[in-house]
Amino acid sequence: MSKEQRTRPARKAPVAPTAGNRETTQVQVRNKEKKKTSENGGGAKNLRYSHLLEGMVGCGDMVLLEPLTEESLLQNLKTRYESGEIYTYIGPVVVSVNPYRQLKIYTPDYIEEYTSRNMYELPPHIFAVSDSSYQSMRDRNLDQCIIISGESGAGKTEASKLVMQYVAAVSGKGDEVDRVKEQLLQSNPVLEAFGNAKTNRNDNSSRFGKYMDIQFDFRGDPVGGLISNYLLEKSRVVGQNQGERNFHIFYQLLAGATDDVLQMLHLEREVFQYRYLSEGGCSYVLTMEDDKQFQVTIKAMEVIGFSPEDISSVLEMLAAILNLGNITFAGYSLPNGTDACKVTEGRAIGYVCDMLGSSVELMEECLTIRSVHTTRDYVQKPLSESEAVFARDALGKAIYDRLFTWLVGRINYSIKAKSLTKKKVMGVLDIYGFEIFEGNSFEQFIINYCNEKLQQIFIELTLKSEQEEYIRENVQWKHIDYFNNAIICELIEHPTTGILALLDEECLRPGEVTDDTFLEKLDQRCAGIHPHYESRALKALRSDQTMDRDQFRLVHYAGNVTYGVGGFLEKNRDLLFKDLSQAMFACERPLLKTLFPEGNPKLQTLKRPPTMGYQFRSSVAQLMKNLLTKNPNYIRCIKPNDVKSGRNFHDDLVQHQVRYLGLMENVRVRRAGFAYRQEYGQCLARYKMLSGETWPVWKENPREGVKEILSACGCHELDFTCGRTKIFIRNPRTVFAMEDKRRTRLHDLATLISKTWRGFYQWSKFQTMRSSQITIAAWYRRYYVQKWYMRTKGAALVVQKYYRGMVARMELRRLKWLKRAAWAVGVIKKYFLGWQVRKEVQEMRRRQREKEAVLVIQKYYRGWKVREEVRGLFKQVAGPKVAVFMWKYMCYNFLLTILRNAPSTSPLDDHWPQVSVLFEKSSELLREVHHRWPCKVMRDYYQARPKDRKRMMEKPRASNIFKGKKSLYDQTVAVPFESDRLSLRSDHRWSKIVAETNEQRIIWTDRAHKINRRDGKGVPIVLVVTGMSIMILDPKSLALKYRIDLRNIDQVSVSSFIDNLLVLHINPFKATDRSYTKGDFVLKTTHVIELVTKLSSVVKETLKKELEVTISNTIIAHFKVDEDPCTITFQRDQTSTHRPSPVCRRRANTLQIIV
Ligand SMILES: Nc1ncnc2c1ncn2[C@@H]1O[C@H](COP(=O)(O)OP(=O)(O)OP(=O)(O)O)[C@@H](O)[C@H]1O
Ligand SMILES: [Mg+2]
Repeated sequence: MSKEQRTRPARKAPVAPTAGNRETTQVQVRNKEKKKTSENGGGAKNLRYSHLLEGMVGCGDMVLLEPLTEESLLQNLKTRYESGEIYTYIGPVVVSVNPYRQLKIYTPDYIEEYTSRNMYELPPHIFAVSDSSYQSMRDRNLDQCIIISGESGAGKTEASKLVMQYVAAVSGKGDEVDRVKEQLLQSNPVLEAFGNAKTNRNDNSSRFGKYMDIQFDFRGDPVGGLISNYLLEKSRVVGQNQGERNFHIFYQLLAGATDDVLQMLHLEREVFQYRYLSEGGCSYVLTMEDDKQFQVTIKAMEVIGFSPEDISSVLEMLAAILNLGNITFAGYSLPNGTDACKVTEGRAIGYVCDMLGSSVELMEECLTIRSVHTTRDYVQKPLSESEAVFARDALGKAIYDRLFTWLVGRINYSIKAKSLTKKKVMGVLDIYGFEIFEGNSFEQFIINYCNEKLQQIFIELTLKSEQEEYIRENVQWKHIDYFNNAIICELIEHPTTGILALLDEECLRPGEVTDDTFLEKLDQRCAGIHPHYESRALKALRSDQTMDRDQFRLVHYAGNVTYGVGGFLEKNRDLLFKDLSQAMFACERPLLKTLFPEGNPKLQTLKRPPTMGYQFRSSVAQLMKNLLTKNPNYIRCIKPNDVKSGRNFHDDLVQHQVRYLGLMENVRVRRAGFAYRQEYGQCLARYKMLSGETWPVWKENPREGVKEILSACGCHELDFTCGRTKIFIRNPRTVFAMEDKRRTRLHDLATLISKTWRGFYQWSKFQTMRSSQITIAAWYRRYYVQKWYMRTKGAALVVQKYYRGMVARMELRRLKWLKRAAWAVGVIKKYFLGWQVRKEVQEMRRRQREKEAVLVIQKYYRGWKVREEVRGLFKQVAGPKVAVFMWKYMCYNFLLTILRNAPSTSPLDDHWPQVSVLFEKSSELLREVHHRWPCKVMRDYYQARPKDRKRMMEKPRASNIFKGKKSLYDQTVAVPFESDRLSLRSDHRWSKIVAETNEQRIIWTDRAHKINRRDGKGVPIVLVVTGMSIMILDPKSLALKYRIDLRNIDQVSVSSFIDNLLVLHINPFKATDRSYTKGDFVLKTTHVIELVTKLSSVVKETLKKELEVTISNTIIAHFKVDEDPCTITFQRDQTSTHRPSPVCRRRANTLQIIV
């Protein structure tokens, strides 16, 4: 059996091509014509296509490829690839050939061009399938998945990024949406840094599988995402093939971190310092700038929401892994012959412990000793040197693997949708490609199993949807045979007999279990039984040198892969020694507790964790289940060459991929019945010019219109079938013929349109010119006539004006004459009437005077006559009577004057009215009578009240002393004098003084101030005048301070101003007590008039003499016996009209008082 036959045993012979070489030539000629138009270097300006079939290089949709052979398909891909057309359709599937160079076909212009367009309207593009998927998700509420497959380096990851880029660009905008988009996009650099590495096939090879669900709200705006990761190739952490590198992040860290950061992490910039980075002998990739990429990764982590602590924890883990690899061991034998080892590289282990937060002893112990728990016992077994190296590497791999899973979880936490409402989902699957290496191990086995599953889902869904479409459209369906890889999937995943199940069985089996026993088991169960399993156990292959005895071979859908069983069991178990996990959990770094939860001594369990194979099978099953619920979209990536060149197209390599991707079958299935299908509406719109009936407008049912077009094109009824909504055309030739006709027809139509347009243009030009000429003529005539009219009108107005002026002036003259005539008549009339009236008045006056003269003469005459008659009688009788009457009248007048102007009843009112000198004496008498009467009233009043009388008796005394001498007196006249203002008589403290002095009678008390003789300031005191003395008391305690005997008081002096000061002059020779030593007292009291009056009366009463009161503004006072007398001067303050209290100033022997 040849290799090809072994690869595809289940496939049937391909469907024979339906067309000959003629069509191939046609396609080629057509392609040559259009090749120029499809070069894509020119950017978006070359983008104005109207249909997939236009401007096409080769065949844009290989369903229409004619003839359909593997060669023509390859040739088509090659032709298109060489002219920069890297995308080609097979129906809805996009085949993408890695260009290995930057094409200008992903610019915003392209995104705009492909937005909301039908997939077949424009040349094939990844944006078209992204748009179709996005629209279907947004508008038809169908969850979508985009399955990107192809071998390593075929461009899957780039394609997935382009899909995300497109969706981010066309979906809605807004702060929150932009944040989500940015986080989703930024997850790529982070995952690529930690999960991608340079391999010999791809400089940026994804070493893990990724499925990302982008979640959208009802508007189609991204609201979150969820990333699932599958099987990271962790063995790469500790070793790489020649020419390959470890994960990018290690190189990025060493190249991009600052010196300080590296020092903190105990790292050095030189890559080959680290064993884990030197295995592959490759430290840099030409196409990558590790230092810049490090900044990008850190920035992306920050955008996603990693805190600075998270980022430094991650960097610490990376540093710990690098230093861990540098730990070396030296083996030795124990006395009992057992192999043991110890750590020889002290510095590296110290760095590791520093980064992990662990003690060196604990780390050393967990790397060199293993604890074994048996059912009964707990034994510690020293590890040999090789075992310790194994433990070290296992720890390095475990830390990195778990760190990666933690990173994905942390990203998921950040990009998780915030609302709980149901979301629409678009999934993007970018899983590692099919891998065939020189030496393939467990990882390749798992990866290839996953690819088998994807191929299966592709076959199932492609066929299914194809079948469904025919059923939906009610079109006869012809079954197509295809290779179904379910048989290979079953060989791997069957729950009892599958390779994974056998592997698990072997891992769990007690007894001596090795990779070889596993291979034996496989041989027993599969060799010769399963057609896709081969090993040296098969008779036919016993001497096959391409396979070793510890290898088996699987015939995958994509080719034969030989796997070495070495490490299968260990990798499947994926166990980390308890000592290591416990040591990691015991470290101080919180992140390690999260990464190694099983190391928690409290959660110890004896249950075995699920095997790697089991876990992977479950997650792949889960993934398949998930994909089946979604509407699938395919991007099949092809790698054109193995040298990463943008110019080479290796036919063999591409042919291999075309075969295993099943592209030929895909095309055949797609066009099994009908090569071309399109909705009636769209078909009618495209080809309606091919029939006179449908051009330019077809108002009937589009289906009838399409039939009309097809019959107009001479299509036989067998060439097409009408579905419910689509027309199905059996042969691509029919479509090309229609396209040719359309092109010719379009040319004719273009000529017609051009002709009609030119005619219309000239006609419109003529019409415009004609109407312009008419308008100009009309305007000119109008202007001419208007001008003539204006001139005529102006002349008429001038003539009219002059004539009217003349008439008006004549009228004015007439009116003026009339006015003057009327005025003259008035004047003449006035004068005449005046003259007439004056004449009459003169006459009347003359007559009146005559009349009055008569009467006067008559009066005088009669008077003279009477006087003559009574002259003798008057002298005797009337004379005395008139004289008496006159005298009485004058007396009456005098009394009335007195009455009306009499003063008030106050005895103080001395006002009296002025009278004639005739009545002066009577007036004086009346005045005295009038004064005595109120005095009597007062006397009577005080007679009835003896106490008040006594008090009032002091007023005359005050009057005698002060009236006219002291200005203050006038203000006090109306104020009755008081005696005991402070009610001392009832105060118990007074009784003490009484007891002391034996003086009971209080004449006067009040608060006062004693003026300090030295500085003129007032000291508050209580002043008491008794029958015998003046007492000065303390105002608070009422204690007796001074007692001045009345006999010692020589005189009292006051000023003439309105002030409250008085000076008590003490006679130094009479005084026997202390008051003398103090000399004269200057006191200030608000009742100075009252006090002096009271003093005067009490002196009079007690000493029977008059108190000498001096009223002067310069007073001589004796303050001390041996001192010169002090002159007290009173001055009126000229600046202020009112001074509330006098100001006292002592200067030498002068006490100046300003009042
Ligand atoms: N559309 C494209 N335009 C330009 N270059 C591309 C494109 N697609 C892929 N490439 C180039 O091919 C390289 C490999 O692509 P990519 O990493 O996507 O492959 P892959 O299929 O994901 O491989 P693996 O399975 O190893 O992860 C990229 O680094 C890039 O240089
Ligand atoms: Mg990739």
